[in-house]
Amino acid sequence: MDNEYLSINGGNELRGTVEMHGAKNAVLPLLAAAAMTKEESVIEDCPFISDVENMLGLLSALGVSVKRKGRNIELSGGVSGVGDIAGFCKTMRSSMFMLGVLLSETGEAYLPLPGGCDIGARPLDIHIDGLKKMGAEAYIENGAVVCKAKKLRGAEIPLRYPSVGATENLLMCAARADGRTTLLGCAREPEIVSLADGLNKMGANIRGAGSSKIEIEGVKTLKGARLIPGGDRIVAGTVLAATALCGGSVKIDGVNRSELAAVINAFKSEHCKIDGTNTGICVSSDGRISAGSVFTAPYPLFPTDMQAQYLACQCFSDGVGVVRETVFENRFAHAYELQKMGADVIVDKNAAFVRGNPRGMKAAELCAHDLRGGAGLMIAALKVRGESKVFGTRYIDRGYESMETLFRELGADVSRVRV
Ligand code: UD1
Repeated sequence: MDNEYLSINGGNELRGTVEMHGAKNAVLPLLAAAAMTKEESVIEDCPFISDVENMLGLLSALGVSVKRKGRNIELSGGVSGVGDIAGFCKTMRSSMFMLGVLLSETGEAYLPLPGGCDIGARPLDIHIDGLKKMGAEAYIENGAVVCKAKKLRGAEIPLRYPSVGATENLLMCAARADGRTTLLGCAREPEIVSLADGLNKMGANIRGAGSSKIEIEGVKTLKGARLIPGGDRIVAGTVLAATALCGGSVKIDGVNRSELAAVINAFKSEHCKIDGTNTGICVSSDGRISAGSVFTAPYPLFPTDMQAQYLACQCFSDGVGVVRETVFENRFAHAYELQKMGADVIVDKNAAFVRGNPRGMKAAELCAHDLRGGAGLMIAALKVRGESKVFGTRYIDRGYESMETLFRELGADVSRVRV
């Protein structure tokens, strides 16, 4: 049973400026990459979120020396052994980044199957196929991924789907493998570019990150470096969505407009103006939502990590829309919670059909079932008058650093209540 919730008294417009910090999805693979050298690396501007803290715990258990100095994290010593990591693996899917690292550094990896948010089956076949092509023995046995390789060798690896995690894992393996690896059909998310840039700073030889073909010339060793993750485009997108819905005017610093192009296009309307540069975006809205439809897909199309926030806004629109989820098969838990607020939304397989009901939406007691779903509920609660309670803060805290502070600074009435 939850012992805390976010109490939200909605109805306020949002005004002010917020600064984005390093993206969760960029910081997590960079932390793993830094474990591929004994030399010291520093990862700058890391957010205080539970996924990062769990990853630090996992790295420590594997022998990496980890020091947090404010937002900077120093890592040194590399992975040296296999500690008790089952607990960390269960809470966090990013534990899978250690597959590539452990294989490269120690020749073997044994990782209990990951947890994270329950948004679909999330198989690991693309990771495993790629590792096998590089000469590893890799399989799932008794609820764990087992990999062994005396030596990893470069290979041509076509990915059957542009999986973000598999692209990152294989990138790390290939950085230290013997010879050249070509990854085809890879993910193109900005976080892939951030990881490749980081590995190159560490001495790797990677070209083409950000496109669907990445070429990696393996090197013998990697060295320590200062690694700088990009600002969090999903936290920025969440603030953008909240401002579009609540009305007001917000400047979001530290994020690149081009990384949010699909999100900006989806939210821009006669009621919501959005401008931006490569260092920030400005949103101003009269608080009305135009009906619209989106489908989620790999970058640069509309991100699945913004689907819940978009759907929450559509519940207040002036018409009908459809939100299709093509990336994960089970990512609509928030739709049933939005119904508790009066939302006219029906889920059928991978689509949510929504008829805006701006006057019928009311405060309610809600429960987050996953990270971004929680953000969607939060946004809806910020709009309606009266007190809403959002339980399931442990999901929200995985990826948002003090959600209540973030929105309080913009004028919202939000607090964390312990029960
Ligand atoms: C990453 C992000 C997550 C985001 C997702 C999609 C991180 C830490 N997390 O997750 O926030 O929602 O990308 O943009 O960066 N799949 C397979 N086999 C595999 C691997 C994936 O079938 O071996 C499927 C998954 O089940 C899913 C789809 O591919 O349906 C996309 O998954 P993937 O891109 O791998 O997501 P993650 O890397 O887990």
